[in-house]
Amino acid sequence: MKTIIWIRNFSGLISFCLFILFVIIFLYLSHTNSQTILLLGLFFLLNIFLLFLNRKARSIELQEIRNLIRKIRLNEYKDSIDISLSKNLQDLEEEIKAMFNRTQSDIQNLKKLEQVRTEFLGNVSHELRTPIFSIQGYIETLLDGALGDTKVNRAFLQKAINHTLNLNNLLNDLIDISMIESGQMKMSFRFFNIHEFLKSVESEFRASAENKNLVFSLHSPNPKLDLYGDKQRLKQVMSNLVTNSIKYTESGSVEIGVIEEGSFGKIYVKDTGLGIPSSDIARIFERFYRIERDRSREMGGSGLGLAIVKHIIEAHESKIEVKSQLGTGSEFIFRLKK
Ligand SMILES: Nc1ncnc2c1ncn2[C@@H]1O[C@H](COP(=O)(O)OP(=O)(O)OP(=O)(O)O)[C@@H](O)[C@H]1O
Ligand SMILES: [Mg+2]
Repeated sequence: MKTIIWIRNFSGLISFCLFILFVIIFLYLSHTNSQTILLLGLFFLLNIFLLFLNRKARSIELQEIRNLIRKIRLNEYKDSIDISLSKNLQDLEEEIKAMFNRTQSDIQNLKKLEQVRTEFLGNVSHELRTPIFSIQGYIETLLDGALGDTKVNRAFLQKAINHTLNLNNLLNDLIDISMIESGQMKMSFRFFNIHEFLKSVESEFRASAENKNLVFSLHSPNPKLDLYGDKQRLKQVMSNLVTNSIKYTESGSVEIGVIEEGSFGKIYVKDTGLGIPSSDIARIFERFYRIERDRSREMGGSGLGLAIVKHIIEAHESKIEVKSQLGTGSEFIFRLKK
């Protein structure tokens, strides 16, 4: 087989050499007509033979390619290294290998996506079930007689309504996440005054910090500083970060602020709270990830807050950083262009 293919590859050259050879023989011998015809005939026959070999070699090659494609279709290859064609089909082999690798990685991505989707749905149903069961429990207890018990009835109703609020927050977060991840969240970037912005965050959260006896402070030395971003979305970022700081700080302080750094403004939210174990730092931005699952859920958290924060900050071509030490506190930082 190899020889046939080899002959095929060099058939042009062989044919040319034969031609030269015959011309030499022809010149060497005398010029009689019968010899010329014999030589030409021989030359012609050899060429036909070459043509036949050529076709044979071609069908061998096609067969080889067909087998290869069939094996790929039947999923017989696990790795592109296993794919091989004869030497003269190296270019084609490379192309097929590249195509194989590409489809393999597409399949891998699809599988991963499918897994993420299933996991996400699982998490969503789990998160929805918790508040619904609680509400159901309180209402059933009330119906079973607690309604007339003035010591507990209001408290049970209050708990039930708190759970509906959590449910509502969860749904809003889910809508945000799905809008962001499907690329439907429209951002509108403008220059805005960061001083005014941080002051409005401060006035919104001061009371809830002070309710927990935390000192709330604002550091914004330049009242004229303008930064570039989507103010509304950044408000959402700050709300999530400040809510976290207040939620996960038992005593001490929460500080928000901005520091000018070259052509950027560095915005931070700092607390003296529980802190985050270094092994968890990389994961807190994942959807539904909570360090102390039950405690966070008790506080109404679903673990979507930081996932939303990360998306919004990345849409600003920036990134969110965390510095944290267990038991000492945490600081969340991101930068915006001046
Ligand atoms: N400032 C902080 N100090 C300590 N731990 C924090 C802080 N911020 C976040 N975490 C940890 O990271 C986890 C993820 O935070 P994230 O904001 O995504 O979720 P959540 O606050 O639990 O719920 P949600 O924000 O959806 O209501 C939290 O459960 C908490 O364990
Ligand atoms: Mg949160």
